[in-house]
Amino acid sequence: MTSQRKWPVAIIGSGNIGTDLLIKILRSDGPLLAVAMVGIDPDSDGLARAQRLGVPVTAGGVDGLMKMPHFGDIRLVFDATSASAHRTNWATLETTGVRMLDLTPAAIGPYCVPVVNLDEHLDAPNLNMVTCGGQATVPIVSAISQCGVVSYAEIVSSISSRSAGPGTRANIDDFIETNSAALQSVGGAQLGKAVMVLNPADPPILMRNTVYCLVEGEPDHSSIETAVNEMVVKVTTYVPGYRLKRRVQFETFDADNPLQIPESGTFIGTRVTAMLEVTGAAHYLPAYAGNLDIMTSAALATAERIATHFPQNAGATL
Ligand SMILES: NC(=O)c1ccc[n+]([C@@H]2O[C@H](COP(=O)([O-])OP(=O)(O)OC[C@H]3O[C@@H](n4cnc5c(N)ncnc54)[C@H](O)[C@@H]3O)[C@@H](O)[C@H]2O)c1
Repeated sequence: MTSQRKWPVAIIGSGNIGTDLLIKILRSDGPLLAVAMVGIDPDSDGLARAQRLGVPVTAGGVDGLMKMPHFGDIRLVFDATSASAHRTNWATLETTGVRMLDLTPAAIGPYCVPVVNLDEHLDAPNLNMVTCGGQATVPIVSAISQCGVVSYAEIVSSISSRSAGPGTRANIDDFIETNSAALQSVGGAQLGKAVMVLNPADPPILMRNTVYCLVEGEPDHSSIETAVNEMVVKVTTYVPGYRLKRRVQFETFDADNPLQIPESGTFIGTRVTAMLEVTGAAHYLPAYAGNLDIMTSAALATAERIATHFPQNAGATL
């Protein structure tokens, strides 16, 4: 095994997201080298799988990671635990100088949605990957924002409850807040709202996302549809199972037929609706769990971009 010119990375959190991410890193021929899988449950499937795949493991959490003999070589740590665990992990690792890519919705660092703002925060010590819903919907809001003023964006993300581990369930409030904020700060909406549905249907449903944008005035429908279609194609470069479920829909509200919004009153303009579905690559959970893929693929693309942007920081031979 040669690690020259590679970026040694660790993953904290050996659950659904952490394990799917590990498999993606191992399957990628990019610059990352997985050198540690960190959990707190010695019996977790993720740690056992990492061990079988030849990746060093510890069940000692972040303290166990820091005691691993090659900790000093690690350039980047992915956190796939929960928002509250990430806050503790960051408090421990911040002074070591290692970068963190946060896959929880803790939102300590700036938001990163690769297709929209990948290059804006490459040197941030802690970069936040928003949420699975955010990775699926912020690009669409951003595309629509290029064509008109989005005064309100609302998204509904539905995922199979089987794919939502305890870590996800522990931070649903953070999901809502972080996703809503990213619709504004990255997507460009003046106001954002996110809704998450854990769907217990059996057989499990594919990840679905509905995006509603209220666009002021009379925006050009074909420009919006083109911008959305182009954005979908860009996302599929790193999440191949991402697609529009049907054509973008438009509904116009004029002075004779205004839309009444309880929070903000009367709206005159156009409601744009985009419905998306994400089929997963089935690296860890089956293909219904596109919500894993969209997050882990976004995180992988971001980390690989950071690694290629700072080649001088590549690790020495381990
Ligand atoms: N499941 C999804 O669809 C999805 C998508 C995007 C983002 N996320 C986010 O990813 C995170 C993980 O979600 P998940 O569904 O994989 O949950 P999970 O419960 O399956 O995995 C979390 C793992 O972290 C471990 N863990 C908890 N605290 C730890 C600590 N202090 N140190 C080390 N390990 C610790 C747990 O033992 C568990 O193995 C959550 O913040 C969630 O919001 C989940």
